[in-house]
Formats: sequence, C-alpha cells, structure tokens
Amino acid sequence: MSEEFTSHEYDVIVIGAGGAGLRAAIESARSGAKTAIITKSLLGKAHTVMAEGGCAAALQNADPRDGWKVHFHDTMKGSKWLANWRMAEFHAKEAPDRVRELEQWGAVFDRTPKNVINQRNFGGHTFPRLAHVGDATGLEIIRTLQERGIHEGIDIFTEYTVRHLLKEGNRVTGCVAYTRVDGDFHAFSAKSVVLATGGITRCWSVCSGSWEYTGDGHALALWAGAELRDMEFVQFHPTGMVWPPSVRGILVTEGVRGEGGRLLNKDNERFMFNYVPEAFARDHAETIEESDQWVEEVVSGKLATVRRPPELLTRDVVAKAINSEVKAGRGSPHGGAFLDISHRGEEAILAKLPSMHHQFKELAGVDIAKEPMEVGPTAHYVMGGVVVNAETQETTVSGLYACGEVASGLHGANRLGGNSLSDLIVFGKRAGEHAAKQAADLAQPSIDESQVQSAIKEMVAPLERGEGENPGLIYDAMRDMMQEKVGIIRVKEELESALEDLEDFSKRGQTCFPGTSRKYNSGWHQALDLKNMVDISKVATMAALAREESRGGHTRDDFPGHEDEFWGKNLNICWMENGEIKIRQEPVEEIRDDLKEALQEVKDMIAERAAEQGGDN
Ligand code: FUM
Repeated sequence: MSEEFTSHEYDVIVIGAGGAGLRAAIESARSGAKTAIITKSLLGKAHTVMAEGGCAAALQNADPRDGWKVHFHDTMKGSKWLANWRMAEFHAKEAPDRVRELEQWGAVFDRTPKNVINQRNFGGHTFPRLAHVGDATGLEIIRTLQERGIHEGIDIFTEYTVRHLLKEGNRVTGCVAYTRVDGDFHAFSAKSVVLATGGITRCWSVCSGSWEYTGDGHALALWAGAELRDMEFVQFHPTGMVWPPSVRGILVTEGVRGEGGRLLNKDNERFMFNYVPEAFARDHAETIEESDQWVEEVVSGKLATVRRPPELLTRDVVAKAINSEVKAGRGSPHGGAFLDISHRGEEAILAKLPSMHHQFKELAGVDIAKEPMEVGPTAHYVMGGVVVNAETQETTVSGLYACGEVASGLHGANRLGGNSLSDLIVFGKRAGEHAAKQAADLAQPSIDESQVQSAIKEMVAPLERGEGENPGLIYDAMRDMMQEKVGIIRVKEELESALEDLEDFSKRGQTCFPGTSRKYNSGWHQALDLKNMVDISKVATMAALAREESRGGHTRDDFPGHEDEFWGKNLNICWMENGEIKIRQEPVEEIRDDLKEALQEVKDMIAERAAEQGGDN
C-alpha cells in the first residue's frame, strides 16, 4: 500500500540549520535561487553554539604580525599535516572578511579599547586570533545568521528529519523527510542539495553534542554513494563537565584556558608542564608562568609578547594529558582534573566567561570565581567527514554539497579550537554559492514516486514490527560501547571487538520496536537513528583499525609513533557498495610550492620570535 506524502520544489535545499547551513542558505538565496532549509531540530538549536570561545580569523587586531600565512601554517601544523591545503588556504585568506561581514550584519563581538574586534588566545594559534563574544560566540553567530536569513526569504522546515536522498543516475535530485511532530512524509525536488548536518559525537556516551548529532548527513552521503575521509579522527575536547553525572560531557570552553585557566591534578600540581613537547621545554616554566601577566595585557588591549601557557597546547595533547593523570591515580574525585580560573577574580570572570560562571553555578553548584571546576575529555567534533571539492564543496556525487562539520578536509587529524566557526562561515558561503550556481543551469527534477515509497517503507518498518526490544536501550548500549572501545585511546583488539559489537547492534536495531504511533514518538526517531549511528560508527572504527599510527585525534596504544612514518602520508577513504562499507588508502597530495614557501616564512618568523624571547616556542 502506498503512503501519502506532500511534494515540494526548490532550486537548493540545505539540510541543517547550524552556522554552516544558515550561511549556505543565505548565499544561495542571495544568488537568486529558491532556497529552503530543512532541520530536524528547532531553528537556532545547533552545535555551533558549542563553539563558545571564539571564531579564528587573522584580523591582526591583537597582533599585527598575524596574517593568512600564519593562520594557514597553524592550521596545517595543528592538523598534523593532513589538512587539505587548498581548503586551509581558502580558510585562512577568507575568514577575516567573513568575520567582518558578520559584524556588518549585526554580530556584537567584544572590542578592544581601540574599538576593534578583540581576539583571544586558543591552543595551537601562534597569535591571539579568536574573535569572540564573551563565551557565547557561536550563539551570537547563529543569532546574526538567523536574522540575516529571514531577510533573504529562505523557507524553513523545522522538526523535519531527512532520511533519504533522491537520485537520478549519479546525481542527487532531492530528499525525503518525515515530520518529528506527527510523522507526515514529505518529498523535496531540488537541483542541488547541501548537507550541513553537523557531527557524529552522539555515537559516544560522553559528548558535548545534543541529541541531534547522530551522523545523519554523513550517513545520507554514504548511502547515496559519496566518499567519506578520515573518520577515525574524533576530537575529544579536553574540558567537559564531569560532575554531576547528568551533565557529564557538557562543554567547558577552551576560553577558560585562553583567559588563563590552570589545569591541576589532585595533588594541586600544574601537570601540563609534564606533557609539554621538547620544543616547549620545562626549563622555561618561569617564563610560561608569566603568561598570566600576558593574559592581562591582551585584555587591556596591549600586544601579546609572551609565549602561551602549557594549557594551550593543542586539544589532542591536553585531552590525553588529563586522561593520563586520571589513569595514574592523580585525577579529581569524579575522574577528571581541576581547572582553576579563580585567580582572575570575579569581575574579570563575569566579564569574559559569564556563561561558564552561570553553567557551573546552576548545574554543579560551583562558584568558579572561588573554586576550581572539575573537567575531563568529551567527544566534541569529528575532523573526518564527507569528501568535498575544496573550491565548490561538491561531494563525489553530483548535485550533493557538504559544508561545516559534516564535510572533511580542513582539519586533518586535529582541529584547532576556533577554526570550526571560521570553517562554517567560509565554506558555508562557498557551498551555497556553488550549489546555486549549478542549480541555475538545471531543470527542476521530477520526484521519483517509487524511490519515495521505498524510503517511506523503510521509515515505517519499526512501527509495524508488533514486538521487539526498546530502541532506547540499544541506543545507550551502543554509545557506551563506542566510549569504551573506540574512545580516546585505542588498540587493535578492542577495535576488532567493536566491529563485532556493531554487527550485533545493527541486527538488534533491525528488530527493535518503538510502539506504533507516529506522533511525538521519540522511540521511533531513535530506532531510525540507530541505522545511521551504526553505519557511521562502523566507518569510524574501520578507519581507526586501518590507521596504524597515533596522530592528532587518533591514538593507538599499540602504535604510539607518528609523523614521518608511512601512515602520515595517507588518507583513509570509505564508501558503501551494495550495502557494505569499503575502505582504501590514498596518498596525501603534495603541497603547492608557493604554499611551501609561505610555511617556511612562518617557521622562520616563529624561530626568530623564539630567539628574541630567549627560548623555543
Ligand atoms: O572550547 C570552545 O569554546 C570550543 C570551540 C571550538 O570547538 O571551536
């Protein structure tokens, strides 16, 4: 029996309403394309708001020595040299204009006494580079883009979940969605589709993401025949809340460390000094301690001249350091570390970190102006994702674009904090622009009724089983398993065992029963999510098993080395063939000569700066 559905026609459909989706839709609509956003959640409720501490762009306000070459260098180095260098170049060159554009559109960034956008320090950035709005930068960016979007005449479908991409040959021609509120079905004809669905971190039980981050866009791309790259690189942000259990994983912004926060173990030792790579030697501890003075200077608008504190090493290093302290029995009472910012005083904390102050007061009963926070690593971001063309953001399937976290390339093996907000405005714009450009030359695709009906059949299947396991139980068990076996530290045997478990979760997902109602049935939504989560967890686990080295967001206890060995020169590419996930390795493309020169120029500048300061940086 065929099910009823409502049809819609657009030039460009954007799936996802976070920063990348909004920016893509604005650009598409501005180009004259009839544009719609489809979001499974409410408008404005996106992981973008979890990029709290700032948006990286070489504005040169805090330090005139900054510039696109230094930002390019930092991104490449932070990525452990696996970033797509073309994307890193576009990103470094275009981020300042995108930030200034946001300001023109009404974003109220914090300013210096000289009335220019203030920039704060974050891990791995050579100079203070993060334009910020206290500790709510992502929220302000979302607010600004939403307001701008309203004026561009974009149609918005909220609480619609897309489960299937329509295709004609190797071209995407639209999508099929259901409404979360009452389970109605909708088919969308589109000349171009942009995926801007965010990440996958809901596949881990301790994560900073909300219920939405179930890898929908990654899975839609995989099922539609697109390639995914380097899905083993998952960023465990060093500082999530660890107590009480109900809030475990909620983000504690890197802005706390950017404002001078110190990490301490249970013995009150500032342990990050013990995890500093050789080039940042312990002998310079005294100078590094002075970095608190440096923080004061930045806040008062003077130039930064002193090197970064060890708490601002890249996220992969800090997260693993906290993990090691806990394993060595030096952790905080609830299995994390202490993060102390109280020395900055209440006034500065309320001015620069108001949300953190509120968050800890309300959720943990902790006054961060007086006492330390308890923090630990939380799955925050996936560096891997859908393979895209650097310039256009088109995937390996025609008519299908991807931008923001769902896309891959910019961050390689490790993302620098603040580079996600700049990523989504730079590449959101590019995706919207190119999706609209391509749509302008195409006729409206017709909706293939048989594809729609088979997508609907798959969606209603769980409701028709009559009996079976509660999908919520499978969902929780799978997230716990991923946390345990594909977490921050990985080994071959556990990864192999995780793959076996995922086969089992897949089978359980196919026989679960969420009841029969289509209205407000969260069990049904979870039953459907299980399919994407299993497939995407499989891709991440297969890639983690294949990458026999430790690099950035992927640590193999059985392969602790990295950098110059074989693996660092390769990417893991995954795709689906006849329902089976395949994997192959591809060499990293040699970097263009002028960009090599730019890198050398920056390295020389950093070495000179270090010599002036009397030590390495
Ligand atoms: O810590 C933070 O504020 C997160 C920023 C980011 O992930 O870019």
